[in-house]
Amino acid sequence: MLLRTEKDTQDFAYRLAKELQPNDVLTLEGQLGVGKTTFTKGLAKGLGVKRNISSPTFTIVKEYRGRLPLYHMDVYRLENSMEDIGFDDYFFADGITVIEWASFIEDFLPKERLDITLRYADNDNQREITLTPFGEHFEQVVKALS
Ligand SMILES: Nc1ncnc2c1ncn2[C@@H]1O[C@H](COP(=O)(O)OP(=O)(O)OP(=O)(O)O)[C@@H](O)[C@H]1O
Ligand SMILES: [Mg+2]
Repeated sequence: MLLRTEKDTQDFAYRLAKELQPNDVLTLEGQLGVGKTTFTKGLAKGLGVKRNISSPTFTIVKEYRGRLPLYHMDVYRLENSMEDIGFDDYFFADGITVIEWASFIEDFLPKERLDITLRYADNDNQREITLTPFGEHFEQVVKALS
């Protein structure tokens, strides 16, 4: 699906947030600056988070309070580290976990999750988004959005 503007990306994430339930894990893949954090901002709005979302690059994980707690991870710095910093403590804490650069912690990801890929499209502000659901719940989520 094509996202034509930053607002499109945030609006899509906002709609997705409405379909989520406790312990849902979303991964975000895509090149530097493609819009992973921007997507997370829309998601946070949809979860009723009031605080501004900032990039967690230097903290690995940031927590926000909303309708459900939001755990926003950016594991870019864990590339090749194989270190388990207690991911399951977040995945099963009854919140929503969003992970930028999730492939860097592939071995620790839960089987049931929604993989989201963003790609640069032809125009500067356009992005292509792909959703890959793992498990029945996320298949339903994707259906509800289309
Ligand atoms: N359609 C779009 N969707 C998302 N962001 C867009 C879009 N068009 C333009 N942008 C711009 O692209 C930039 C995306 O930055 P953002 O920090 O969200 O990327 P990121 O993937 O999280 O980067 P990083 O890999 O450094 O974490 C923002 O400046 C945003 O305004
Ligand atoms: Mg980012």
